[in-house]
Amino acid sequence: MDPKDRLIVALDVSSQEEMERLTKLLAPHVGYFKVGLEALTSIGIPRAVECVTWYAGSPFYDGKFMDIPNTVAGATRGVGKLGAKMFNIHCTGGRKMMIEARVAVDVMDPPKPLLLGVTILTSLKYDDFVDMGFFPRLVFPEGKEKRLQELVVSLAKLGQQCGLDGVIASPQEAPDIRQACGQDFKIVTPGIRPEWAQLNDQERVMTPFEAIKAGVDYIVVGRPITGHKDPVEATRMIVEEIRLAMGAE
Ligand code: C5P
Repeated sequence: MDPKDRLIVALDVSSQEEMERLTKLLAPHVGYFKVGLEALTSIGIPRAVECVTWYAGSPFYDGKFMDIPNTVAGATRGVGKLGAKMFNIHCTGGRKMMIEARVAVDVMDPPKPLLLGVTILTSLKYDDFVDMGFFPRLVFPEGKEKRLQELVVSLAKLGQQCGLDGVIASPQEAPDIRQACGQDFKIVTPGIRPEWAQLNDQERVMTPFEAIKAGVDYIVVGRPITGHKDPVEATRMIVEEIRLAMGAE
């Protein structure tokens, strides 16, 4: 794969002008553009995606669907009409919901979008699941990380059984998912920071080089590119890192 095709730029913007400026500038240099909830709700759903396709960019529709199976199947058909190349649903929506999404993708005319699953949002910690009544309260912190990690891997495996093409995960989770789900299962990771970039609100990050070496297929990068004084130069540096890591794979 061309190293640039492994880079997904997160377009977390709230105006059409900004969306168009960035897509026009970056479309020749990156694989995909992630269009998430902020852009979708501010700009409008078809329009936000069109801002990407107008400039020959490939949209990743980050809508994170979770609803009853019939509703998710309908929303999936909508994603197909929008022309998104990737989209995602929550694995915690359950087996039936994931299968219905798979079936809705399967009946689409090619090119069919890649169907990805969100396992556990990386913003959630063990104790959040205790609050929700899913996990027992543990007195000692040992074991909390492990329980959460096991849950992520079992959700990825369930997603794979239901026909998902891959999952979104933190780079730290990638090696376990790769081991459990094999080489063909796609792993997409945010939480990526080149050494030259600020952390912003990300905490447990990996560089593009480390993430590709850890077995990730696609990396999602937002502010290090969109907030850079020269977004094209930032993109070039990241793609170069991906290229180097691919050479060392
Ligand atoms: O700007 P930055 O590179 O931090 O953007 C990362 C993107 O990935 C954002 O769109 C963010 O919402 C998304 N994301 C994340 N961590 C997750 C899930 C999604 O950073 N666990």
